[in-house]
Amino acid sequence: MREVRKRIGILTSGGDCPGLNAAIRAVVSHATLTYDWEVVGIPYATQGLLDRASVPLAIHGLDLRGLDPLLNMGGTILGSINHGDTLARADEIIAGYRELGLDALIAIGGDGSLKIIDRLAKHGNWQLIAIPKTIDNDVALTERAIGFDTAVNTITDALNRLACTASSHDRVMVVEVMGRSAGHLALQAGIAGGADIILIPEVNYSIREICQHINELRDRWKRKFALVMVAEGIHPASDPVSCGKESSPPTPGRGMGQYVTDQIINCNQRLVEVRVSVLGHIQRGGIPSALDRLIAAAFGKVAVDLIAEGQSRQMVAWQNGCVAVVALEDVLAQSPTSVDPQSYLVETARALGIYLGS
Ligand code: F6P
Repeated sequence: MREVRKRIGILTSGGDCPGLNAAIRAVVSHATLTYDWEVVGIPYATQGLLDRASVPLAIHGLDLRGLDPLLNMGGTILGSINHGDTLARADEIIAGYRELGLDALIAIGGDGSLKIIDRLAKHGNWQLIAIPKTIDNDVALTERAIGFDTAVNTITDALNRLACTASSHDRVMVVEVMGRSAGHLALQAGIAGGADIILIPEVNYSIREICQHINELRDRWKRKFALVMVAEGIHPASDPVSCGKESSPPTPGRGMGQYVTDQIINCNQRLVEVRVSVLGHIQRGGIPSALDRLIAAAFGKVAVDLIAEGQSRQMVAWQNGCVAVVALEDVLAQSPTSVDPQSYLVETARALGIYLGS
């Protein structure tokens, strides 16, 4: 007897990033070609379940010429939400899954949204498979989340550009990047892009040491400019330098680039010129890198296979160069992850003469 054809849903939740569409494409291709399932997209994550909304997804379905734009298109064709009182409407959302006739759901999200969706799946008895995505790369038990590699490349490119203008004007260029409470993005892009100073939430830093480092670059190495990478989640300095007008210290989040800039200006008696660039959501846009597309393809493929095997509340993960499967509960218990201050990357940065604090 022929099995009843499955109808699976896919959604993207939380902040967008490059590579989401590549993952959607992989899921649709494998589910359709290998299993002959129907795949529907749920627009705007749990909002779509609330609204009982779904869109049919077919391979090569977006373009009349057969050209598939999903591989290289940034953002998410399904839309996403990064806020909302989702759990307060849990019963309605759970009912939405049933009313849409879903047999299983693939959720592509970061730790915040996966936590919420996992609770819904538990209460609603959904068959759920998670795919990690976030430029912050702070989802536990996976070495990589979709979007991280592209964001590292985007920031690296920004540092290359800023180095040109900084060196032309002998300036200190402070660059603030995202990452929430983690410094993965700042650390990896900082090393790749040639930063002289990298400040991350996991390591304390001193304004006086930063200024000494900048002066040493000038005096000892005749290097008149400096690139200072600041993760948005850093804490105020251990030794703030007052100019007599500040009010209360800033809280971690956007604005820390300006704070570090002001502190360098307050502290540096050598009157270096300092400028700040906040990369903001530029880091989340753009064409996904080859690595993000590759990971998205592999994650999408295995997510579909896990549904076929009847598994639920599992997450696909990138470990040692291939896809592993981990319990979503374990991931959520350990997320978000931080940079280990003893890690080889921190050691590498220090070995290259980059100031990181102590
Ligand atoms: O979690 C991803 C992330 O890009 C963080 O790095 C950043 O702090 C946050 O999202 C920004 O969110 P929003 O798009 O709501 O401003």
